[in-house]
Amino acid sequence: MRVLFFLAPLLGSATAENGLAGWLRHASLSCSHQCQSKLPANIIALNATESSPVYTAGIELQQGLKGIYGSHVDISHDKCQTPSAAVIVGTLEQYRKTCGSLKDVPDLDGDGFWIDTKDTVVHILGSNEKGALYGAFEYLSMLAQGNFSEVAYATNPVAPIRWVNEWDNMDGSIERGYGGPSIFFKDGAIVEDLTRVKQYARLLASIRVNAVVVNNVNANATLLTTENLEGLGRIADVFRPYGVQVGVSLNYASPETFGGLDTFDPLDASVIKWWTNITDQIYEHVPDLAGYLVKANSEGQPGPLTYNRTLAEGANLFANALQPHGGIVMFRAFVYDQLNETNWTADRAKAAVEFFKELDGKFDENVVVQIKYGPIDFQVREPVSPLFANLFNTSTAIELQVTQEYLGQQSHLVYLPPLWKTILDFDLRIDHKASLTRDVYSGKHFNRKLGGSAAVVNVGTNTTWLGSHLAMSNLYAYGRLAWDPTDDPKGMLQDWIRLTFGFDEKVLDAITQMSMESWPAYENYSGNLGIQTLTDILYTHYGPNPASQDDNGWGQWTRADRTSIGMDRTVSNGTGYSGQYPDEIAAMYEDIDTTPDNLLLWFHHVNYTHQLHSGKTVIQHFYDAHYSGAETAQYLLAQWQSLKGKIDEERYEHVVRRLEYQAGHSIIWRDAINDFYHNLSGIPDQFKRVGRHPWRIEAENMSLDGYRPYTVSPFETASGSVAIVTTSNETVGTATTNIKLPSGTYDLAVNYYDLYGGKSQWGVYVNDKKVGEWQGNNEDVFSHTPSIYLDGHSATRLKFRDVKVKKGDTLKIIGKPDGVEPAPLDYVALLPQGIVD
Ligand code: GCU
Repeated sequence: MRVLFFLAPLLGSATAENGLAGWLRHASLSCSHQCQSKLPANIIALNATESSPVYTAGIELQQGLKGIYGSHVDISHDKCQTPSAAVIVGTLEQYRKTCGSLKDVPDLDGDGFWIDTKDTVVHILGSNEKGALYGAFEYLSMLAQGNFSEVAYATNPVAPIRWVNEWDNMDGSIERGYGGPSIFFKDGAIVEDLTRVKQYARLLASIRVNAVVVNNVNANATLLTTENLEGLGRIADVFRPYGVQVGVSLNYASPETFGGLDTFDPLDASVIKWWTNITDQIYEHVPDLAGYLVKANSEGQPGPLTYNRTLAEGANLFANALQPHGGIVMFRAFVYDQLNETNWTADRAKAAVEFFKELDGKFDENVVVQIKYGPIDFQVREPVSPLFANLFNTSTAIELQVTQEYLGQQSHLVYLPPLWKTILDFDLRIDHKASLTRDVYSGKHFNRKLGGSAAVVNVGTNTTWLGSHLAMSNLYAYGRLAWDPTDDPKGMLQDWIRLTFGFDEKVLDAITQMSMESWPAYENYSGNLGIQTLTDILYTHYGPNPASQDDNGWGQWTRADRTSIGMDRTVSNGTGYSGQYPDEIAAMYEDIDTTPDNLLLWFHHVNYTHQLHSGKTVIQHFYDAHYSGAETAQYLLAQWQSLKGKIDEERYEHVVRRLEYQAGHSIIWRDAINDFYHNLSGIPDQFKRVGRHPWRIEAENMSLDGYRPYTVSPFETASGSVAIVTTSNETVGTATTNIKLPSGTYDLAVNYYDLYGGKSQWGVYVNDKKVGEWQGNNEDVFSHTPSIYLDGHSATRLKFRDVKVKKGDTLKIIGKPDGVEPAPLDYVALLPQGIVD
């Protein structure tokens, strides 16, 4: 392959850089004469029907070429002229009919396509219309990256199911959504203006996603009113020209709660009839509905078990109703019961296999069991769900999460594909043979027709879609991996960077490095060695709260006590979970010596002094990892800042704010987790960092006027476990101290709490001269779920750089409360250059 890159050293100037265009900016290349010669003179789109994906491909090519080259190119539809330079897009079949045969095109399957740029005539031919559109986006992606290589290849998807799941509620809110309200729903109905839906359709088609489930898995049956079904039809009409089918989540109890029957028993004739009717009605509005997504008997949702019917009987109910229409049922395997931690063998991780293994082979052909990547719930690291190795005669799909529920909620940069790859590339050794997870869910391993991927995405009306520009690399890469799970996380990332930010080498290197370091850093400063994320599982799933994992029925336990930690999931002495894997994998996890360090505490209960393969003790690993993770987070910010002037102001500043916040919040994580386990185990940090902060001035130790001490819970989310709050919600508080450090220039860090329900204001003064001020408006600025308490979610750390002070100067913080937020403050730190704290 001859690779030609005509690189323009420009950002590529598109209009407003607010993120709306995502990776489809198709920014101007400011093309040289050489690259202008690659501009096709004509676009031939072999379908003239406006709602067809091939027609859309013509329009996309026209708009994309206009953006990239600045030139208008005409589109024609019906004939197959080949002027000196043209791009022809259509299905292979249509091409053969209109233009005759074409040599060298290999077999295409599924939604695959053939692209050939070697000739003066560029051929983009799909096995179907969708494939042709994907090929058009592929061609534009190459051009937009300045890649004028002469290529001729076919590409086919690994699996037919490449879906996204939106968790949008009918009222317009989004469960675990961090990018604003729904683009689909508002106040119980479908929104009138579907402009954003169309823009989303473009993004999805460009990454070859072929279906979108528009409503929350915790489904509300009111989606099924006639008016809403009409609205659903409008949504589907918008997605259709992009080859994206619509699917819906169902509430299992709908026949009773919505249909007025006195039962929702899946074997009851009236229930069967009810679902058949509703399904027929839905297909009247959406003739090409992709199918249903069902969360049944899970986390309080109704399901067939209520009537002692099996989950398979429950799924087949929908399969039968959908079958005549060609739809499929995605039936979620996320089924588990509340458990009692006093039972040493109780284990939520075992639930999916326990519920589903015996049903293998009992699901209808159009049912796909949708399995979260790990057995618990989207944690920072999990072993692959053993259910993939227990269903031999059932189609499966893997469920990933683009929305970063337990992974920083888009207020932290975490590039997820390296995490996903630990699962996709894992060899389950089914029957002692190579059996990669990706070959199992794609259907290849067990020779099944259906299979694939679904990702929880949760885009919102924010122009950044997900609440953060950098988080979009996860959506982009998801689509790429759903098509080809062998794709390389770094390579996909770099394509995304060039498309999103242009191809300045420095920009490419910095964002690549930041992104690739981000998941390891996040794992380091949150939960290590397979202990799970250690976020607050009972509230927002955002900030640190290790104690919340235990002493409740949710089964995300750590079993941490004064001497030991971890879940014993062995067969010999624990829950028996390791035995759910095929023999070779079971044996590896059963034995502490062959269990990798990064999953040690997932499988074994050990003393804090247990020595890892790395040679460190568990507790020292915790301490070191948290220091190293937080240090990397500081570096992410510095790397981004090195790009000032190379990225447009709008996106540069947006990202700076998030990375500054993450740098601060990573220190909050670090200290909370380290203090918690230090306190619990009583084992000191070998390097004497934990609990020792020589540069900090605790707010509660300052002279207070209008402020009072406040003991924070959980204790580890405040330095020294105490913060200060104003004595009333109207009183302005002042905290004063004398600086005892040597005179010099310091970075001044402040730790405060930003609660939902108020926008306090703080000012920091040295000898009455203001050196910094800020407002408690995180709820408006950042994407994560806000908190109404002083805790690890609301704790925020800010830094003012290069503050000059003299020994003996007065340092004063004035806090003005607002609403329910009493201007809370934890500490101030004066940090000499180069000290993180
Ligand atoms: C997680 C998440 C819930 C969601 C559930 C699911 O538990 O916190 O918000 O409903 O997963 O996947 O069904």
